[in-house]
Amino acid sequence: MDLDGSQQDPEMKENPPVYVGREVDIKKSERMTAVVHEREVVIFYHKGEYHAMDIRCYHSGGPLHLGDIEDFDGRPCIVCPWHKYKITLATGEGLYQSINPKDPSAKPKWCSKGIKQRIHRVTVDNGNIYVTLSTDPFKCDSDFYATGNFKVIKSSS
Ligand code: FES
Repeated sequence: MDLDGSQQDPEMKENPPVYVGREVDIKKSERMTAVVHEREVVIFYHKGEYHAMDIRCYHSGGPLHLGDIEDFDGRPCIVCPWHKYKITLATGEGLYQSINPKDPSAKPKWCSKGIKQRIHRVTVDNGNIYVTLSTDPFKCDSDFYATGNFKVIKSSS
């Protein structure tokens, strides 16, 4: 029997979803960390939605699982505890504020730097949470800290 569908889907065979914990636990803690196919990820439960991303910030490898979640421009973001970069939970975009010096009102506007943090897929099945790593074929800045010598945070506190 093909329980996980891997016999039909070659991508699933190479990159199957990995069990990371129970729904009841993350709903209490609102975040958890996991290692998925040797990649460290953080999973957030925020306002009824799950989000998973590389655990180390694209900027300099800060521990995103220790950051606060705040809304910027109406978008929930994790704020990196090291230098306060803002990363959208839904898309992994880096947000920043900019001012147009030619605009007399000079009101800062939120802008996107594009996708900087790699986002992974979360699925829930029967109270269990699974993460499927993104295989989107683009170079994401957070890949640098998710692979090679930098990939493991020694202490998570
Ligand atoms: Fe995250 Fe610098 S390491 S903002």
